Amino acid sequence: MKLYSPEFTADPRTAYDRMRSEHGHLVPVEVAAGVSATLVIGYRAALRILSDPDRFPADPRAWESSLPENCPVLPIMEWGTIGSGAEEEHRTRYRPAYLETLRAVDLFTLRREVEAAAVPLINEFCSAGKADLLDQFAVPLTVRVVNNLLGLSQEVGERVFDAMAVLRDAPDEETSDRYNQRLTGDLLEAVSAKRSELGTDVISRLISHPAGLDDAEIVAQLAVLYARGSEPTWNLIVNTVLLMLTDKQFHDDLLAGALTVRDAIDEVLFVNPPLANSCTRFPRQPQLVENEWVPADHPVIISSTGCNSDPAVAGDRIGNRSHLAWGAGSRSCPAQSVTLVIVQEALDQLLDVLPEIELAIPADQLEWRPSAFHRAPAAVPVIFPPALPLAVPTP
Ligand code: HEM
Repeated sequence: MKLYSPEFTADPRTAYDRMRSEHGHLVPVEVAAGVSATLVIGYRAALRILSDPDRFPADPRAWESSLPENCPVLPIMEWGTIGSGAEEEHRTRYRPAYLETLRAVDLFTLRREVEAAAVPLINEFCSAGKADLLDQFAVPLTVRVVNNLLGLSQEVGERVFDAMAVLRDAPDEETSDRYNQRLTGDLLEAVSAKRSELGTDVISRLISHPAGLDDAEIVAQLAVLYARGSEPTWNLIVNTVLLMLTDKQFHDDLLAGALTVRDAIDEVLFVNPPLANSCTRFPRQPQLVENEWVPADHPVIISSTGCNSDPAVAGDRIGNRSHLAWGAGSRSCPAQSVTLVIVQEALDQLLDVLPEIELAIPADQLEWRPSAFHRAPAAVPVIFPPALPLAVPTP
Protein backbone atom coordinates (compact mmCIF):
# COMPACT_ATOMS: atom_id res chain seq x y z
CA MET A 1 0.00 0.00 0.00
CA LYS A 2 1.39 3.39 -1.00
CA LEU A 3 0.47 5.79 1.82
CA TYR A 4 1.49 8.81 -0.25
CA SER A 5 -0.85 7.97 -3.13
CA PRO A 6 -3.91 10.12 -3.89
CA GLU A 7 -6.07 6.93 -3.73
CA PHE A 8 -5.07 6.32 -0.09
CA THR A 9 -5.60 9.97 0.84
CA ALA A 10 -9.01 10.08 -0.87
CA ASP A 11 -10.44 7.20 1.16
CA PRO A 12 -8.21 6.06 4.03
CA ARG A 13 -11.03 4.29 5.85
CA THR A 14 -11.56 1.78 3.05
CA ALA A 15 -7.78 1.41 2.74
CA TYR A 16 -7.40 0.55 6.45
CA ASP A 17 -10.25 -2.01 6.21
CA ARG A 18 -8.53 -3.61 3.27
CA MET A 19 -5.15 -3.62 5.02
CA ARG A 20 -6.74 -5.29 8.06
CA SER A 21 -8.40 -8.03 6.06
CA GLU A 22 -5.32 -8.68 3.91
CA HIS A 23 -2.52 -8.34 6.48
CA GLY A 24 -3.82 -8.30 10.07
CA HIS A 25 -2.08 -5.88 12.42
CA LEU A 26 1.24 -5.36 10.62
CA VAL A 27 1.06 -3.99 7.11
CA PRO A 28 3.89 -3.56 4.58
CA VAL A 29 3.61 0.00 3.24
CA GLU A 30 5.57 2.60 1.28
CA VAL A 31 5.73 6.09 2.79
CA ALA A 32 7.43 7.56 -0.29
CA ALA A 33 8.59 6.08 -3.56
CA GLY A 34 10.98 3.25 -2.67
CA VAL A 35 10.79 3.86 1.10
CA SER A 36 9.21 0.87 2.80
CA ALA A 37 7.99 0.59 6.38
CA THR A 38 5.75 -1.56 8.56
CA LEU A 39 2.50 0.13 9.55
CA VAL A 40 0.98 -1.05 12.84
CA ILE A 41 -2.83 -0.97 12.82
CA GLY A 42 -3.46 -3.22 15.86
CA TYR A 43 -4.10 -1.19 19.02
CA ARG A 44 -2.53 -3.66 21.48
CA ALA A 45 0.51 -4.32 19.28
CA ALA A 46 1.03 -0.53 19.07
CA LEU A 47 0.92 -0.13 22.85
CA ARG A 48 3.46 -2.94 23.29
CA ILE A 49 5.82 -1.26 20.81
CA LEU A 50 5.43 2.24 22.27
CA SER A 51 5.99 1.03 25.81
CA ASP A 52 9.23 -0.80 24.92
CA PRO A 53 11.83 1.84 23.89
CA ASP A 54 14.69 -0.66 24.45
CA ARG A 55 13.44 -2.96 21.69
CA PHE A 56 11.85 -0.17 19.64
CA PRO A 57 13.99 2.97 19.93
CA ALA A 58 13.23 6.16 18.00
CA ASP A 59 16.78 6.53 16.67
CA PRO A 60 16.67 6.74 12.85
CA ARG A 61 20.40 7.00 12.10
CA ALA A 62 21.13 3.44 10.93
CA TRP A 63 18.06 3.46 8.72
CA GLU A 64 18.78 6.90 7.29
CA SER A 65 22.07 5.75 5.82
CA SER A 66 20.15 3.25 3.64
CA LEU A 67 17.75 5.84 2.16
CA PRO A 68 17.69 6.94 -1.46
CA GLU A 69 19.05 10.45 -2.10
CA ASN A 70 16.55 13.33 -1.85
CA CYS A 71 14.19 11.23 0.19
CA PRO A 72 11.04 13.34 0.73
CA VAL A 73 9.94 11.65 3.97
CA LEU A 74 13.03 12.61 5.93
CA PRO A 75 11.73 15.85 7.46
CA ILE A 76 8.80 14.40 9.38
CA MET A 77 10.58 11.21 10.30
CA GLU A 78 13.62 13.16 11.50
CA TRP A 79 11.84 15.99 13.25
CA GLY A 80 9.85 13.52 15.25
CA THR A 81 13.03 12.04 16.52
CA ILE A 82 15.61 14.81 16.74
CA GLY A 83 17.60 14.32 19.87
CA SER A 84 16.84 10.64 19.82
CA GLY A 85 20.35 9.82 18.60
CA ALA A 86 20.97 9.27 22.27
CA GLU A 87 17.87 7.79 23.89
CA GLU A 88 19.47 8.36 27.27
CA GLU A 89 19.93 12.10 26.56
CA HIS A 90 16.32 12.32 25.45
CA ARG A 91 15.06 10.58 28.57
CA THR A 92 17.22 12.39 31.10
CA ARG A 93 17.57 15.89 29.60
CA TYR A 94 15.45 16.83 26.57
CA ARG A 95 12.12 15.31 27.56
CA PRO A 96 12.21 16.63 31.15
CA ALA A 97 13.16 20.07 29.77
CA TYR A 98 10.23 20.43 27.42
CA LEU A 99 7.79 18.60 29.70
CA GLU A 100 8.51 21.09 32.49
CA THR A 101 8.57 24.00 30.06
CA LEU A 102 5.17 23.13 28.62
CA ARG A 103 3.72 22.35 32.05
CA ALA A 104 4.64 25.89 33.10
CA VAL A 105 2.45 27.43 30.37
CA ASP A 106 -0.37 29.43 31.96
CA LEU A 107 -3.42 27.97 30.23
CA PHE A 108 -5.63 30.89 31.22
CA THR A 109 -3.27 33.39 29.55
CA LEU A 110 -2.94 31.06 26.58
CA ARG A 111 -6.74 31.07 26.16
CA ARG A 112 -6.70 34.88 26.11
CA GLU A 113 -3.92 34.83 23.52
CA VAL A 114 -5.88 32.47 21.29
CA GLU A 115 -8.91 34.74 21.55
CA ALA A 116 -6.73 37.78 20.70
CA ALA A 117 -5.39 35.95 17.65
CA ALA A 118 -8.77 34.56 16.55
CA VAL A 119 -10.91 37.70 16.59
CA PRO A 120 -8.91 39.81 14.07
CA LEU A 121 -8.73 36.81 11.73
CA ILE A 122 -12.49 36.23 11.95
CA ASN A 123 -13.06 39.97 11.48
CA GLU A 124 -11.22 39.79 8.16
CA PHE A 125 -13.79 37.44 6.62
CA CYS A 126 -16.97 37.53 8.74
CA SER A 127 -18.75 40.13 6.64
CA ALA A 128 -17.85 38.41 3.35
CA GLY A 129 -20.12 35.42 3.97
CA LYS A 130 -17.43 32.98 2.82
CA ALA A 131 -13.92 31.90 3.77
CA ASP A 132 -11.31 29.17 3.52
CA LEU A 133 -11.04 28.15 7.16
CA LEU A 134 -7.65 26.54 6.61
CA ASP A 135 -5.71 29.43 5.07
CA GLN A 136 -7.69 32.31 6.56
CA PHE A 137 -8.17 30.95 10.06
CA ALA A 138 -6.62 27.71 11.30
CA VAL A 139 -3.11 28.17 9.84
CA PRO A 140 -2.51 31.85 10.75
CA LEU A 141 -4.10 31.40 14.16
CA THR A 142 -1.95 28.37 15.03
CA VAL A 143 1.20 30.05 13.73
CA ARG A 144 0.62 33.22 15.76
CA VAL A 145 -0.14 31.29 18.93
CA VAL A 146 2.75 28.84 18.54
CA ASN A 147 5.21 31.69 17.77
CA ASN A 148 4.05 33.47 20.88
CA LEU A 149 4.23 30.33 22.98
CA LEU A 150 7.77 29.56 21.84
CA GLY A 151 8.89 33.20 22.05
CA LEU A 152 9.61 33.83 18.35
CA SER A 153 9.34 37.44 17.19
CA GLN A 154 6.94 38.07 14.32
CA GLU A 155 9.83 38.49 11.89
CA VAL A 156 11.68 35.31 12.90
CA GLY A 157 8.34 33.47 13.14
CA GLU A 158 7.54 34.34 9.53
CA ARG A 159 10.93 33.13 8.33
CA VAL A 160 10.59 29.89 10.31
CA PHE A 161 7.11 29.31 8.87
CA ASP A 162 8.38 29.86 5.31
CA ALA A 163 11.35 27.54 5.82
CA MET A 164 9.14 24.81 7.32
CA ALA A 165 6.70 25.16 4.39
CA VAL A 166 9.51 24.63 1.88
CA LEU A 167 10.98 21.75 3.88
CA ARG A 168 7.61 19.98 3.98
CA ASP A 169 7.69 19.53 0.20
CA ALA A 170 11.38 20.13 -0.58
CA PRO A 171 11.98 18.97 -4.17
CA ASP A 172 15.61 17.93 -3.63
CA GLU A 173 18.35 17.51 -1.05
CA GLU A 174 20.07 20.77 -1.96
CA THR A 175 16.88 22.78 -1.24
CA SER A 176 16.29 20.82 1.92
CA ASP A 177 19.88 21.48 3.16
CA ARG A 178 19.63 25.17 2.30
CA TYR A 179 16.35 25.67 4.16
CA ASN A 180 17.46 23.53 7.08
CA GLN A 181 20.46 25.83 7.46
CA ARG A 182 18.22 28.89 7.23
CA LEU A 183 15.87 27.43 9.81
CA THR A 184 18.74 26.66 12.17
CA GLY A 185 20.13 30.20 11.69
CA ASP A 186 16.76 31.81 12.42
CA LEU A 187 16.18 29.71 15.51
CA LEU A 188 19.73 30.39 16.74
CA GLU A 189 19.07 34.11 16.34
CA ALA A 190 15.92 33.75 18.45
CA VAL A 191 17.77 31.83 21.18
CA SER A 192 20.64 34.36 21.31
CA ALA A 193 18.16 37.25 21.56
CA LYS A 194 16.41 35.55 24.48
CA ARG A 195 19.65 34.86 26.34
CA SER A 196 19.99 38.58 26.94
CA GLU A 197 16.34 39.09 27.94
CA LEU A 198 14.57 36.09 29.38
CA GLY A 199 10.77 36.01 29.40
CA THR A 200 8.10 33.42 30.23
CA ASP A 201 8.11 31.75 26.80
CA VAL A 202 9.35 28.25 25.90
CA ILE A 203 12.78 29.42 24.64
CA SER A 204 13.45 31.32 27.88
CA ARG A 205 12.38 28.36 29.98
CA LEU A 206 14.52 25.95 27.96
CA ILE A 207 17.49 28.30 28.40
CA SER A 208 17.09 28.40 32.16
CA HIS A 209 16.22 24.71 32.61
CA PRO A 210 18.63 22.82 34.93
CA ALA A 211 19.34 20.32 32.09
CA GLY A 212 21.76 23.02 30.88
CA LEU A 213 20.96 22.72 27.15
CA ASP A 214 23.40 24.52 24.86
CA ASP A 215 22.21 26.66 21.92
CA ALA A 216 22.43 23.82 19.39
CA GLU A 217 20.39 21.55 21.65
CA ILE A 218 17.75 24.24 22.21
CA VAL A 219 17.51 24.88 18.47
CA ALA A 220 16.99 21.14 17.84
CA GLN A 221 14.21 21.02 20.45
CA LEU A 222 12.60 24.14 19.00
CA ALA A 223 12.52 22.59 15.53
CA VAL A 224 10.73 19.55 16.98
CA LEU A 225 8.34 21.72 19.00
CA TYR A 226 7.52 23.89 15.99
CA ALA A 227 7.10 21.03 13.51
CA ARG A 228 5.16 18.88 15.96
CA GLY A 229 3.12 21.80 17.26
CA SER A 230 1.98 23.64 14.16
CA GLU A 231 0.60 21.50 11.33
CA PRO A 232 -1.19 18.87 13.49
CA THR A 233 -2.80 21.66 15.50
CA TRP A 234 -4.21 23.55 12.52
CA ASN A 235 -5.41 20.27 11.04
CA LEU A 236 -7.14 19.34 14.29
CA ILE A 237 -9.00 22.68 14.15
CA VAL A 238 -10.25 22.17 10.60
CA ASN A 239 -10.87 18.44 10.93
CA THR A 240 -13.10 19.19 13.92
CA VAL A 241 -14.99 21.85 11.95
CA LEU A 242 -15.44 19.30 9.17
CA LEU A 243 -16.87 16.72 11.56
CA MET A 244 -19.35 19.27 12.89
CA LEU A 245 -20.40 20.32 9.40
CA THR A 246 -20.60 16.94 7.75
CA ASP A 247 -21.89 14.53 10.42
CA LYS A 248 -25.57 15.32 10.79
CA GLN A 249 -26.00 13.43 14.07
CA PHE A 250 -23.03 15.23 15.58
CA HIS A 251 -24.21 18.57 14.28
CA ASP A 252 -27.72 18.09 15.72
CA ASP A 253 -26.41 16.86 19.09
CA LEU A 254 -24.09 19.87 19.32
CA LEU A 255 -26.91 22.28 18.55
CA ALA A 256 -29.14 20.55 21.09
CA GLY A 257 -26.41 20.83 23.72
CA ALA A 258 -26.17 17.03 24.09
CA LEU A 259 -22.53 17.18 22.91
CA THR A 260 -19.82 19.82 23.33
CA VAL A 261 -17.00 21.13 21.16
CA ARG A 262 -14.64 19.09 23.36
CA ASP A 263 -16.63 15.93 22.47
CA ALA A 264 -16.18 16.82 18.80
CA ILE A 265 -12.41 17.26 19.25
CA ASP A 266 -12.19 13.89 21.04
CA GLU A 267 -14.19 12.21 18.28
CA VAL A 268 -11.77 13.59 15.66
CA LEU A 269 -8.78 12.42 17.70
CA PHE A 270 -10.35 8.94 17.47
CA VAL A 271 -11.61 8.73 13.90
CA ASN A 272 -9.57 11.28 11.96
CA PRO A 273 -6.49 12.23 14.01
CA PRO A 274 -4.31 14.94 12.42
CA LEU A 275 -1.21 12.77 12.73
CA ALA A 276 -2.79 9.74 11.11
CA ASN A 277 0.47 7.81 11.16
CA SER A 278 3.41 8.78 13.37
CA CYS A 279 5.54 7.54 16.29
CA THR A 280 8.18 5.93 14.05
CA ARG A 281 10.47 3.42 15.71
CA PHE A 282 13.59 1.70 14.39
CA PRO A 283 14.38 -1.68 16.01
CA ARG A 284 18.13 -2.27 16.10
CA GLN A 285 17.75 -6.05 15.95
CA PRO A 286 15.05 -8.10 14.20
CA GLN A 287 12.03 -8.08 16.52
CA LEU A 288 9.10 -10.45 16.81
CA VAL A 289 5.75 -8.61 16.84
CA GLU A 290 2.56 -10.67 16.86
CA ASN A 291 4.36 -13.71 15.41
CA GLU A 292 5.96 -11.73 12.60
CA TRP A 293 9.57 -10.62 12.33
CA VAL A 294 10.25 -6.93 11.78
CA PRO A 295 13.77 -6.56 10.33
CA ALA A 296 16.47 -4.46 12.00
CA ASP A 297 16.77 -0.76 11.05
CA HIS A 298 13.42 -0.85 9.34
CA PRO A 299 10.85 1.82 10.28
CA VAL A 300 7.84 0.70 12.27
CA ILE A 301 5.13 3.36 12.12
CA ILE A 302 2.16 3.47 14.43
CA SER A 303 -1.08 4.30 12.67
CA SER A 304 -3.25 6.18 15.17
CA THR A 305 -6.13 6.05 12.72
CA GLY A 306 -5.69 2.33 12.08
CA CYS A 307 -5.23 1.45 15.78
CA ASN A 308 -8.13 3.62 16.94
CA SER A 309 -10.43 1.78 14.53
CA ASP A 310 -9.16 -1.69 15.53
CA PRO A 311 -12.38 -3.72 16.06
CA ALA A 312 -10.65 -5.50 18.99
CA VAL A 313 -10.97 -2.30 21.07
CA ALA A 314 -14.21 -0.90 19.64
CA GLY A 315 -16.64 0.51 22.18
CA ASP A 316 -18.58 3.58 23.22
CA ARG A 317 -16.41 6.58 22.39
CA ILE A 318 -18.15 9.45 24.13
CA GLY A 319 -15.94 10.38 27.09
CA ASN A 320 -13.47 7.66 26.07
CA ARG A 321 -9.99 9.14 25.48
CA SER A 322 -8.02 5.95 24.98
CA HIS A 323 -7.11 6.83 21.40
CA LEU A 324 -3.48 6.93 20.20
CA ALA A 325 -3.65 10.40 18.59
CA TRP A 326 -1.07 11.67 21.12
CA GLY A 327 1.06 8.54 20.89
CA ALA A 328 1.76 6.62 24.11
CA GLY A 329 4.61 5.73 26.45
CA SER A 330 7.81 7.62 27.08
CA ARG A 331 7.54 9.81 23.96
CA SER A 332 3.84 10.64 24.03
CA CYS A 333 2.90 14.22 23.17
CA PRO A 334 3.89 16.56 26.02
CA ALA A 335 1.62 19.35 24.74
CA GLN A 336 -1.84 17.81 25.03
CA SER A 337 -3.30 20.40 27.43
CA VAL A 338 -1.75 23.27 25.49
CA THR A 339 -3.10 21.95 22.18
CA LEU A 340 -6.59 21.37 23.53
CA VAL A 341 -6.77 24.95 24.82
CA ILE A 342 -5.67 26.31 21.43
CA VAL A 343 -8.08 24.16 19.42
CA GLN A 344 -11.07 24.50 21.71
CA GLU A 345 -10.74 28.28 22.12
CA ALA A 346 -10.25 28.74 18.36
CA LEU A 347 -13.43 26.78 17.66
CA ASP A 348 -15.41 28.51 20.41
CA GLN A 349 -14.50 31.91 18.97
CA LEU A 350 -15.33 30.89 15.43
CA LEU A 351 -18.68 29.28 16.25
CA ASP A 352 -19.63 32.12 18.55
CA VAL A 353 -19.43 34.63 15.69
CA LEU A 354 -20.50 32.30 12.88
CA PRO A 355 -22.82 29.64 14.31
CA GLU A 356 -24.48 28.96 10.96
CA ILE A 357 -21.38 28.04 9.06
CA GLU A 358 -21.77 25.46 6.25
CA LEU A 359 -19.43 23.75 3.83
CA ALA A 360 -19.39 25.56 0.49
CA ILE A 361 -18.94 22.33 -1.48
CA PRO A 362 -20.20 18.76 -1.02
CA ALA A 363 -18.01 16.92 1.52
CA ASP A 364 -16.97 14.32 -1.05
CA GLN A 365 -15.43 17.08 -3.18
CA LEU A 366 -13.01 18.18 -0.47
CA GLU A 367 -9.40 17.70 -1.46
CA TRP A 368 -6.84 16.20 0.91
CA ARG A 369 -3.12 16.82 0.77
CA PRO A 370 -1.37 13.54 -0.18
CA SER A 371 0.65 12.57 2.90
CA ALA A 372 1.67 9.33 4.57
CA PHE A 373 1.54 11.08 7.95
CA HIS A 374 -0.87 14.02 8.12
CA ARG A 375 -4.65 13.99 7.68
CA ALA A 376 -4.72 17.36 6.05
CA PRO A 377 -7.43 18.99 3.93
CA ALA A 378 -6.05 21.16 1.12
CA ALA A 379 -8.72 23.82 1.81
CA VAL A 380 -11.91 24.15 3.86
CA PRO A 381 -14.25 26.46 1.92
CA VAL A 382 -17.30 27.53 3.96
CA ILE A 383 -20.22 29.91 3.64
CA PHE A 384 -22.27 31.63 6.36
CA PRO A 385 -24.65 34.57 6.85
CA PRO A 386 -22.39 37.67 7.01
CA ALA A 387 -21.72 38.96 10.53
CA LEU A 388 -20.41 42.24 11.94
CA PRO A 389 -16.75 42.40 13.06
CA LEU A 390 -16.09 42.11 16.80
CA ALA A 391 -14.09 44.40 19.07
CA VAL A 392 -10.52 43.09 19.20
CA PRO A 393 -9.58 41.95 22.73
CA THR A 394 -6.13 42.66 24.20
CA PRO A 395 -4.23 39.48 25.12
C1 HEM B 1 -3.20 18.27 17.39
C2 HEM B 1 -1.98 18.55 17.74
C3 HEM B 1 -0.94 17.52 18.09
C4 HEM B 1 -0.91 16.16 17.87
C5 HEM B 1 -1.97 15.30 17.19
C6 HEM B 1 0.34 15.67 18.41
C7 HEM B 1 0.72 14.34 18.39
C8 HEM B 1 1.91 13.87 18.85
C9 HEM B 1 2.32 12.49 18.82
C10 HEM B 1 1.51 11.35 18.24
C11 HEM B 1 3.54 12.41 19.37
C12 HEM B 1 4.34 11.13 19.65
C13 HEM B 1 5.53 10.97 18.73
C14 HEM B 1 6.28 9.70 18.98
O1 HEM B 1 5.91 8.88 19.83
O2 HEM B 1 7.29 9.47 18.27
C15 HEM B 1 3.93 13.76 19.74
C16 HEM B 1 5.13 14.09 20.29
C17 HEM B 1 5.50 15.37 20.52
N1 HEM B 1 4.71 16.49 20.46
FE1 HEM B 1 2.80 16.60 19.89
N2 HEM B 1 1.03 16.72 18.95
C18 HEM B 1 0.28 17.86 18.78
C19 HEM B 1 0.58 19.13 19.20
C20 HEM B 1 1.77 19.48 19.76
C21 HEM B 1 2.13 20.81 20.16
C22 HEM B 1 1.21 22.06 20.07
C23 HEM B 1 3.41 20.75 20.60
C24 HEM B 1 4.30 21.83 21.14
C25 HEM B 1 4.05 23.10 21.24
C26 HEM B 1 3.84 19.35 20.52
C27 HEM B 1 5.08 18.87 20.88
C28 HEM B 1 5.47 17.57 20.80
C29 HEM B 1 6.82 17.11 21.11
C30 HEM B 1 8.00 17.98 21.56
C31 HEM B 1 6.84 15.73 20.93
C32 HEM B 1 8.04 14.79 21.09
C33 HEM B 1 7.91 14.04 22.39
C34 HEM B 1 9.11 13.12 22.65
O3 HEM B 1 9.71 12.60 21.73
O4 HEM B 1 9.43 12.99 23.85
N3 HEM B 1 2.81 18.62 20.02
N4 HEM B 1 2.91 14.63 19.41
